[in-house]
Amino acid sequence: MATGRGRLLLQHWRGLLALHWPPGGVGAAPGLAGEAPGPAGFRKRPGTSYAGTATLKQCARRGRHYKQPSADHPASLESMPSEILLKIFSYLDAVTLLCTGCVNRRFYHLANDNFIWIRIYSTAFSPKISNWQVNSAEKTTVSMNLLSVEDKEAGYWKKEYIAKQRASVKAALARVLKPVNPYTGLPVKTKEALRISGLGWVIILKEKNGKEYIMQHIDLLINDSSVTIIWYGRNWPQLATLSTLDLCGVTPVFRDRSKPPSKNGPRWLSLIAKYNLSNLTESTMIGWDRLIRIFCLHPGLLVGLWKREEELAFVMANLHFHHLVEKSTLGSATVPYELPPHTPLLDDNPEYGLHGYQLHVDMHSGGVFYLCGTFRNLFTKKGSIENGYVKLVVIRFKNNTEHLPLIGKVGLSWRTDVFSGCIKSCSIMDITLLDEYGKPFWCLSSPVCMRSSVPSDGPNFLGQTYCVDYVDSEGKVHVELVWIKETEEYFIVSLVLYLKIAKINHWFGTAY
Ligand SMILES: *[C@@H]1O[C@H](CO)[C@@H](O)[C@H](O)[C@H]1NC(C)=O
Ligand SMILES: *[C@@H]1O[C@H](CO)[C@@H](O)[C@H](O)[C@H]1NC(C)=O
Ligand SMILES: *[C@@H]1O[C@H](CO)[C@@H](O)[C@H](O)[C@H]1NC(C)=O
Ligand SMILES: *[C@@H]1O[C@H](CO)[C@@H](O)[C@H](O)[C@H]1NC(C)=O
Repeated sequence: MATGRGRLLLQHWRGLLALHWPPGGVGAAPGLAGEAPGPAGFRKRPGTSYAGTATLKQCARRGRHYKQPSADHPASLESMPSEILLKIFSYLDAVTLLCTGCVNRRFYHLANDNFIWIRIYSTAFSPKISNWQVNSAEKTTVSMNLLSVEDKEAGYWKKEYIAKQRASVKAALARVLKPVNPYTGLPVKTKEALRISGLGWVIILKEKNGKEYIMQHIDLLINDSSVTIIWYGRNWPQLATLSTLDLCGVTPVFRDRSKPPSKNGPRWLSLIAKYNLSNLTESTMIGWDRLIRIFCLHPGLLVGLWKREEELAFVMANLHFHHLVEKSTLGSATVPYELPPHTPLLDDNPEYGLHGYQLHVDMHSGGVFYLCGTFRNLFTKKGSIENGYVKLVVIRFKNNTEHLPLIGKVGLSWRTDVFSGCIKSCSIMDITLLDEYGKPFWCLSSPVCMRSSVPSDGPNFLGQTYCVDYVDSEGKVHVELVWIKETEEYFIVSLVLYLKIAKINHWFGTAY
């Protein structure tokens, strides 16, 4: 079953975003975040603060004062004539040139120069460089376009260059993600894809007045079906001033595999999910310990608040591997990646879409697994469709041989720079449900907690009964457990999935 799990602490991802795009920004990269309207991927907003590195910002601020050279202020770059600056800029590499464009409006326009960018473009994508497999059609395009540099609006070749760089990353990722493990239905090389894309994650805390705080993740745990990403810090904004939290994947726009990713280079943001922080209420609270209370916001976000101050202690995002890399790299800063459309494979089997499911369930926290189970050949009947859901029974109450223990002391471990702890009876649950062709049908990774429940009918157990419930827009999971005092362990005595019938009809082209 589970093999090759490992921890990746990607410290080099901790470089904070330090790119501030000038007014107007870089337009959407064609063919990439092209679905997204307007300037995609990069954000420039007043009051955006990138904790830690404010260098560029300060330098930008200083840049606004155009100073004449004098005895006190020797000749500076800014006071030079445009022709000289253009000459100097022509020696810069793409990343430096982009950063230079962030200094002020004048530098931005100069650093957009098509002659400089077409040189960068043709050097990078020239067929002479063996890394780049440019076909002859593209070669011709380059040389033809060279003739028409002046026809293009300023910044055209910069955008082309960025778009092409992004497209090459996208193509490399698609190649790496193609081989699928027949047992898990998930890409074999997700970890490698994470490495080659230089992918990291940020949360963007937005204040009600529009101010934003971008936080780079502190810790990362990768297992076979999901990744857990953790943020904490001491100088976080006050919760009362915040309105939303955006979870985004962040990738370097230019990835030079021979060099470690630069901390301050341009980054691409891909929105994964948006959360409303006014949802941190009693109804979303799932557990607590001495110091903190935890809240679960869908999809998969865990927020810990200090009990006493009611302030943010940590944020933990749980992302399932299914489409993880695509969601984290191919969206834009404002529009999430849209899953490719699904075309149902038609079949006239009367029970089509109701059988041949395979489920993998993990319950874990902090790299410790309480449950790892695979269940094959799951099926249901038309008769068990009720209230828009079809019921898929995985572990039967009545059949003792199917019951499973949770291994170890179940708890959700958390830590911050000052305290750490473990919230009893909570954990992360990963669900990977494959259809009869072995394709991922429903995947999720979410914090869950056990609640005391009254025993259902069925055999009488000698112990307290608990249940775990998960609900989202596609289905529900209901688990029943019994605490066995003698052996001090939880036993799963019932596990049932409820799948939205609309989802089944959409996936299989059926009409139940
Ligand atoms: C999950 O990851 C942790 C740390 O990353 C590792 O110690 C653990 O062995 C992994 N668990 C499994 C079941 O692979
Ligand atoms: C968040 O939720 C609150 C209450 O449910 C609502 O008033 C507010 O408009 C929401 N904010 C956003 C940004 O969706
Ligand atoms: C969160 O708030 C939104 C409204 O802003 C509401 O539609 C949604 O149901 C809330 N979710 C939870 C889990 O309370
Ligand atoms: C009980 O479960 C076992 C193991 O899954 C299975 O082999 C057996 O047929 C089941 N018995 C009944 C009565 O369903």
